[in-house]
Amino acid sequence: MIIRPKILIARAVFPEIVAKLAKYFEVTPNQADELWTPSQLIAQLQGMQGAFTMGGERIDAALLAACPELKICANMAVGYNNFDLDAMTAAGVLATNAPDVLTETTADFGFALLMATARRMAEGERFLRAGLWTRWSYDMLAGADIHGSTLGVIGMGRIGQGIARRGAHGFGMKVIYHNRSRLDAATEAQCKASYVSKEELLKTADHIILVLPYSAQAHHLIGAVELALMKPSATLVNIARGGIVDDAALAAALRNKTIAAAGLDVFEGEPKVNPELLTLPNVVLTPHIASATLPTRLAMANLAADNLIGYLINKRPLTPLNTVL
Ligand code: GLV
Repeated sequence: MIIRPKILIARAVFPEIVAKLAKYFEVTPNQADELWTPSQLIAQLQGMQGAFTMGGERIDAALLAACPELKICANMAVGYNNFDLDAMTAAGVLATNAPDVLTETTADFGFALLMATARRMAEGERFLRAGLWTRWSYDMLAGADIHGSTLGVIGMGRIGQGIARRGAHGFGMKVIYHNRSRLDAATEAQCKASYVSKEELLKTADHIILVLPYSAQAHHLIGAVELALMKPSATLVNIARGGIVDDAALAAALRNKTIAAAGLDVFEGEPKVNPELLTLPNVVLTPHIASATLPTRLAMANLAADNLIGYLINKRPLTPLNTVL
């Protein structure tokens, strides 16, 4: 009898993905979508060689020490701040993520959230539903223009570039960006984007969108000091990760009109949301759904599954994040 590797799928996923993985592995699915504590996750992973993770499961040195048979964790997300990559490499555990397949969908959403925020769409919808639209006035729900304005992109990876292209080519925006490293000239030309310092971006952009990966260095990259540099008419959008913005400082800036509006898809400590943000009219709040279209989520799930199959069966993972012996 052939002994098949054992894998855990940490959260509910498309049934066809469970079926695909079951062709290669002894699969323990979690179609009831139970949320496990770290010690429950460790218990579930006993004897498993692979884990299909969604991005919320912390894979750190303590878990790795308690799960010595684990060989790979495949995230169904492009972000991987749930992985302690150094600890995984030291333990000989491969980490993979799900890049590329979500780029255009996520860039679409970033742009949608920017427009909804600048043009006060959620506020307008609440106003109408509350029966407050009894007459027209010249400045009713007047927002900020997108076309012809300056878009500042912080984090110019694949998704940031997608947003820059939409802004420059679709809406005639002037695009400036800040990134750890400057892009090559050809990519800058494609995106019609110019590299500037973080400070210049904060001071001159009309709309700022955050699309950078979370890291310790990026923690509270946007706090009270940075918000104070922005124009009072500016919009801030975060589709990157909670923790990159200091949500309490942002709530204060929105309350005091230091900036005009914000659009947030990610939050510090999500799914909890800073309670003050919930009370403010000038912020659009969405529950971490930037990559949420069914075709894209299916493509992300397939990529995570293909990484498990690629590594545990064929020794060739598709999108590895580290190198292990
Ligand atoms: C979503 O936030 C992802 O990282 O894929």
